[in-house]
Amino acid sequence: MSKIVNGFSKLNKLEKIDWLVSTYFNNETKVKQVLLQYWNSNPLLQDLHDDFIENTISNFYLPFGIAPNFVINGKDYTIPMAIEESSVVAAASLVAKFWSTRGGFKAEVISTVKIGQIHFMYEGDKAELEHYFASKKENLFKVTEAITENMKKRGGGILDIELRDKTAALKNYYQLHVTFETADSMGANFINSCLEAIASEFEKEDIQIVMSILSNYVPECLVHAEVSCKVEELYAENSELFAQKFVQAVAIANAEPHRAVTHNKGIMNGIDAVVIATGNDFRAIEAGAHAYAAKSGRYKSLTNATIENGIFKFWIEIPLALGTVGGLTKLHPLSKLSLKMLDNPSAKELMQIIAVAGLAQNFAALRALTTTGIQKGHMKMHLTNIIKQLGASDEEKEYLINYFEHKTITHNAVVEAYNKLIGEK
Ligand code: MEV
Repeated sequence: MSKIVNGFSKLNKLEKIDWLVSTYFNNETKVKQVLLQYWNSNPLLQDLHDDFIENTISNFYLPFGIAPNFVINGKDYTIPMAIEESSVVAAASLVAKFWSTRGGFKAEVISTVKIGQIHFMYEGDKAELEHYFASKKENLFKVTEAITENMKKRGGGILDIELRDKTAALKNYYQLHVTFETADSMGANFINSCLEAIASEFEKEDIQIVMSILSNYVPECLVHAEVSCKVEELYAENSELFAQKFVQAVAIANAEPHRAVTHNKGIMNGIDAVVIATGNDFRAIEAGAHAYAAKSGRYKSLTNATIENGIFKFWIEIPLALGTVGGLTKLHPLSKLSLKMLDNPSAKELMQIIAVAGLAQNFAALRALTTTGIQKGHMKMHLTNIIKQLGASDEEKEYLINYFEHKTITHNAVVEAYNKLIGEK
């Protein structure tokens, strides 16, 4: 039976669910219940979420956690994180506390330039195109005035418009490469509106506009964050060896793309969680970060570490195009609350906070990997989850956690130990 449907978007929410349940789930009532149990009991809040996207039928929750004890440029922060992966928030909190007694994190925004491009094809004489561009340039700024007026008041606007010859990469391909300052907004709508206005002013018979769109590769919207301390303050057991192995772990990620991808994935665990919690676009951040990691032509680590004159230094440099106004930031009640928790930061301050969250996460991962291994913490979580599934009492839970302190945790082993325990009662 065909599952193609016409006029689906015109159905109301319940009708959409009914269609889904009858078409894909044999009218199982349980399926409908699963979807309905995630509807918010506050209809206004549910309406708000329904309208974020199209064809909404329910909500998909992510846990919202907080990591306290971050000290960044001398200021204390509790960082909000929305993420489904266990250990990430715990790691952030532990590392925050650790560095809070070693001078905290230092962070600095290097630049905040954003980019948009008008991609077009032109077969004619290049000198003529250059002449046409030069004669039009002032007008290209002028046609965006209505759009840029408010942004200019906030210190932003169009920085420059450049004609770029891309014909070496693709026959007849040129660009208008436009740079922007978007103050506290991420600026996607602003940039795209400016680009479309510029494109229609620039277009003529022999210039075929293919598309106008912002770039998520923003190597000049860059932030640096770091921590440093004396090597002997780094690790209780063998600080020197720990520091050396840590630096080697970063060097391995810089030398080897398979490791670099996992290394950077760990960084993005911290970054995405705060990006989502603050209502920013994590796909844009991901795309830009990984492109930046490959800027040398080989995919590398986003962090670096050194030991010089007995000082351990660990830092990150990452492009982050973020907003603290507009978009979802004030629309989603939890994003609004997250930003308030962070003392309503400017976009620049948020760049610093989020870079720190990534650096902290990478520190936690490398510390675990180069010492106890990552599984110890993960298996502890796994054990707690299995115990929860078994419906164990608090007393049984305590017994099982002690019992597995020095034993290998597998699902079967935990079930066996639990059955033995309740059998003995
Ligand atoms: C898991 O989500 C992240 C890590 O794999 C990161 C890393 O290996 O550096 C632990």
